[in-house]
Amino acid sequence: MDGYVSCDAPAKLNFTLEITGRRSDGYHDLRSVVVPVSLFETVTIRPRGDGAVTCRTRGDGVDVSALDSLAPEKHLAVKAVRAMTRALARQPGKSGCDVEIVKRVPIGAGMGGGSADAAAALVCLRALWAPDMPVADWLAVGASVGSDVPAMMLGGAVLMEGRGERVRRLIPQGESPPPMWVVVAFPGFAVSTKTVYDAYDAKNHVDMRSALWEDCARSVRNGDVRECAPSLFNGLQSVVFEFHPTTERFCLALRRGGALKSLLTGSGSAVFGLAESREAAEGMRRTLGGETWAKVLRTLPDGVMAAHGPLVP
Ligand code: C5P
Repeated sequence: MDGYVSCDAPAKLNFTLEITGRRSDGYHDLRSVVVPVSLFETVTIRPRGDGAVTCRTRGDGVDVSALDSLAPEKHLAVKAVRAMTRALARQPGKSGCDVEIVKRVPIGAGMGGGSADAAAALVCLRALWAPDMPVADWLAVGASVGSDVPAMMLGGAVLMEGRGERVRRLIPQGESPPPMWVVVAFPGFAVSTKTVYDAYDAKNHVDMRSALWEDCARSVRNGDVRECAPSLFNGLQSVVFEFHPTTERFCLALRRGGALKSLLTGSGSAVFGLAESREAAEGMRRTLGGETWAKVLRTLPDGVMAAHGPLVP
């Protein structure tokens, strides 16, 4: 039972988020270009023989006190361990582990921090327990944990469809597009995804834009920031702006600071501004002042998720 595996899982931004329909299971059908960025959670898994699952979280630059009141089994990384154990039909020696998370992604920000934890845990567990598990089965385990998890397991820029379970990488193997530079700003409060979707439904609209995701995907593939800006779109943004006006103020501040375009990510509360260059991003960051949680990040369009560390020390 000795040994451990770690995985650094990046946060994501939704460059596009179209809601293409409502589903009978209460979820929504989506079409979203999901792009990882250079802010990482670190997840370490240590198998243990007694079948128990524990989880410890430490914040590195973010407040994790919201997790204190969260029952361990509600943690997405713990859900991921349990889902993987079930998928492996509770094989002896493939159930218990200690999960350790270093969180750098704000909670409730729409940046996929919790989903990244789950994705990283599944990358680690695959390396430890199931290297031969078919990728489709492994992604299905992720989909059972959360809608954003399969996209994050795949790594790199992804087109996500359905509830989130249909994913494909947008950058062909061997291609390394230039990164884009963004400033991500977190207003300091969490937004509940479910509440946002409920409010969206009350408005009773569906938001699809023809050719939008293709335009966005092409620009990400080419690393063309000017082409990318007009294709940034989030169907949830107006709802979130209405209920949390601070998010709109942050978006406007990024625009004033020089962003080609600024947008809410996911269901918020974080917003991001697309910059023409790294220098422009650093200038934009400075205009927000020192009090705001805001970071200059680069996109990771061709990123891959990988486990590291000695399986057996
Ligand atoms: O799957 P996940 O737990 O991340 O979803 C959180 C909430 O977001 C769901 O309870 C649902 O209200 C909403 N959601 C949705 N359609 C999706 C993804 C999430 O309605 N495709």
